[in-house]
Amino acid sequence: MIEIFQLIGNQWRKITSFLLLITLCGGFSSFAIPPTYEAKIDLLINNPTKDEGSTVLETYEIDMNLRLIETYKYILKSDRMMANVNAEFNKPYTNGELMEKIKIVSTNESQILTIIANEKSQKQAALLVNTYAATFQKEIKDLMHLENIKVLKEVSAEKDTRKVKPNHAYYFILSFVCGLLLCVTIVIAREVYFTKMDSVVKTERATGMTNLGTIPFMDKILLSQMHNDGPQGSLFTNGNLPDFIIEEYRRLRENIEFMLKGRGIKTIMITSSSPGDGKSTISSNLAMIMAMNGKKTIYIDADLRKSTGRTLFNLPKRKGLTSAIAGHETFESIIQATEIENLSFISAGPQPLNPTKFLSSARMKELLEQLAKKFDVIIIDSPPLLVVDAVTLSSIVDGCLFVIDAKSTKEELAMKSLAQLTKVNAPLLGTVLNRTDPANSNTYY
Ligand SMILES: Nc1ncnc2c1ncn2[C@@H]1O[C@H](COP(=O)(O)OP(=O)(O)OP(=O)(O)O)[C@@H](O)[C@H]1O
Ligand SMILES: [Mg+2]
Repeated sequence: MIEIFQLIGNQWRKITSFLLLITLCGGFSSFAIPPTYEAKIDLLINNPTKDEGSTVLETYEIDMNLRLIETYKYILKSDRMMANVNAEFNKPYTNGELMEKIKIVSTNESQILTIIANEKSQKQAALLVNTYAATFQKEIKDLMHLENIKVLKEVSAEKDTRKVKPNHAYYFILSFVCGLLLCVTIVIAREVYFTKMDSVVKTERATGMTNLGTIPFMDKILLSQMHNDGPQGSLFTNGNLPDFIIEEYRRLRENIEFMLKGRGIKTIMITSSSPGDGKSTISSNLAMIMAMNGKKTIYIDADLRKSTGRTLFNLPKRKGLTSAIAGHETFESIIQATEIENLSFISAGPQPLNPTKFLSSARMKELLEQLAKKFDVIIIDSPPLLVVDAVTLSSIVDGCLFVIDAKSTKEELAMKSLAQLTKVNAPLLGTVLNRTDPANSNTYY
């Protein structure tokens, strides 16, 4: 329940505008509804058996009176009565219409029968109710030879009718309530069926894993600074980026280091459910931040199908991972130095026909073991879990970081991907939430 209020609270601007629109549309559309006027006529039913001069009503007389009123009510709604009423009009009603337009009301405590008519104009309402009453008097005279019905007051179209529909306030309130229900339904439906993993709370609750960092969404200006300035291409080394982004990477690094302390974990792969979630951006910047913190770090571009590491580090196209695994190169020869102190790099190398086979090979395992002797941290940028390469790789690394794109990753897909990793007993370390709202970037901490 609290979460529903939170969800509504998060989108209150949209919800308020939508609600206002629905309320105004619904309320004002009621002005297009043709009005309905009500006219009432009271009939006094005199007791036909009452003795002249007697002032006291006997019990049987009361009983009879009640029965008489019930009989009159029945006659008032009978087909015969309606046919007689219709005979008075040039444009007759159908029985169904009359049934709808006429209502008969009485109480046990009085001898009054009230005929209520609803019509589109005051004039029509008054005419219908007056005609009904006069026809009824005639009808009772014919049928029962009684003249005991008195019309208390003939209805005047101007003075005795009132507008009953539409009640504009009712339509405004109704539209507001319907709008509110619709908003709550939409918010809940969106949450249930299209749940985006867009907050730390949601990711932790759904995955059951610790969130190790949140990387804010960078707009086009920030990204263009990243891509154009400085020798390091897409890395944050030019100093022009706002502190809040650098700060989030530092936090990520600290959380990872805190987690790895004393656990002998050196090889970390970064993966996600789908392409474009930010694996390469996060892994390369994480490697850089770790190197800058004095850790001897190597970044491996293991996305053999769509390598980007080389461009991220602005390094020339050279032999890489696949050349060494295929045995064409030594492990030593594929390690490239970068312009960042303590940071080395292994590019993906020429694209093989079967990347999965390469990544699961004994030589790949051997390479990681050798690198672990030389480096403090090995960061592996991997493909998304849509392809089996990442699943294969996850079984030979010490830890897996799972990137979630706050703008697009759906809970269902993330859980499916994670299930693939848990199936092979991948050492899951935690999640990194990418493209979070910069305005909320620090709230979790
Ligand atoms: N936090 C962010 N804010 C804005 N843009 C981002 C962010 N993180 C990554 N991007 C951009 O999204 C695009 C895809 O990012 P990246 O290449 O890192 O994703 P990926 O998961 O490695 O994709 P692939 O699976 O295709 O290798 C890049 O253009 C990158 O600059
Ligand atoms: Mg990538």
